[in-house]
Parts: sequence; structure tokens; C-alpha cells
Amino acid sequence: MQQLVFATNNAHKLEEVAAKIAGEIELLSLNDIGCHDDIEETGTTFSENASIKSHYIYHKYHLNCFGDDSGLEIDALNGEPGVYSARYAGEHGNHAANMDKVLEKLKGVTNRSARFRTVISLIWDGEEHFFDGTVEGTIRNERSGSGGFGYDPIFEPVGYDITFADMSMEEKNAISHRGRAVEKLAEFLASF
Ligand code: IMP
Repeated sequence: MQQLVFATNNAHKLEEVAAKIAGEIELLSLNDIGCHDDIEETGTTFSENASIKSHYIYHKYHLNCFGDDSGLEIDALNGEPGVYSARYAGEHGNHAANMDKVLEKLKGVTNRSARFRTVISLIWDGEEHFFDGTVEGTIRNERSGSGGFGYDPIFEPVGYDITFADMSMEEKNAISHRGRAVEKLAEFLASF
């Protein structure tokens, strides 16, 4: 069986990818390969950050692998928070503070359009392949919902009148940026 390392230890991400890729591939996390390094995301684009992770693992372990990077792009803020989505308000992963900052910056702003974007960099047999996924939507004036994570309570996808945080995980994964990028990765892997 072919092995494929996902450069993450995020259990939710691993579960989502494992569910989508065909049974012929054994998905491994960073923990599974004994990698406890802190791989710094120093890029200025999602592609660069995804690529930093996949190249790090490939060069150190010589295994097929992929890395991902995602974030929220708000048009009225010139694409912010973008690659800084996780640490927009300063502290890494403080989702409440990050949302407060977005809502504050958008006070009185009528253009609420935004999108979530994911880029995956796969290194397969020594060659790099990119897969991306986006979901368009708008930023609400207030939070709604208790599901999901990150900016989910303030993001309403186009075609819905609820936020990502109001959806079940299955409902969100079916239309999400990450779900779409993972679909493309799965299609590529299924062709082997
Ligand atoms: P990551 O690259 O997938 O770890 O995402 C980086 C940051 O983007 C997260 O910490 C969140 O702030 C934001 N983000 C990415 N995907 C989502 C999502 O599906 N919902 C809400 N926020 C997200």
C-alpha cells in the first residue's frame, strides 16, 4: 500500500482527508512519522506556505506528502487576513479576538464579500502538484452558530442564509474551500 504523509497533526483535517481518499493509500500524520518539528509558515501566499510544509517533509523523510494552508480573504480589507488568518489579532489561534478585529474593521462597511481559500501542495514521486478550493460568501455583522471553528460564526456562504457555524460538519465539508481542494487531491490520487 502507498503511504502519504499529511503535514499536520490536526485530527479533524486528517479525518476529512482519510474519508475522501481511496482505500489504496495509507494516510500518515506528522506524529505517525515521528516528526515533531515546528515548520514555520513564513510565506506570503497560501501556496508558499503549503509548499514550505510539503518540501520540508519530502527533503527530510523522502516520502510522498502534502501540506495545506487556508485562510479568509475579505475584499474590503484588500484580502486580509489572508495568510495571517490564524494570528490576525496577534495571538495564534485566538479565534474570538480575530473575529472581533474583523467585525471592528468592517463596521459601517457595506461591501461584505469574502472567500475562504485552501491551497494544497502535494509532492508525489518527487513532483509538486497544487490543488486549490474556494468558497465565496459574505461577512455577517454579528456571530451566529456554535459549530466549526475560526471565522465560521461570521461567514455566510453564497446561496445560504446561515453561517458555517450554523451547519453540521458534513454540510460544511461538502461545500467548503478545504473540502473542494481535498476533492481535487483525491481525484488526482485515484488516477494511480
Ligand atoms: P489552516 O491553514 O487550515 O490552519 O487555517 C489557518 C486559519 O484560517 C485558521 O486558524 C482559521 O483562522 C482560518 N480558517 C481556515 N479554514 C477555516 C474554516 O473552515 N473556517 C473558519 N476559519 C478557517
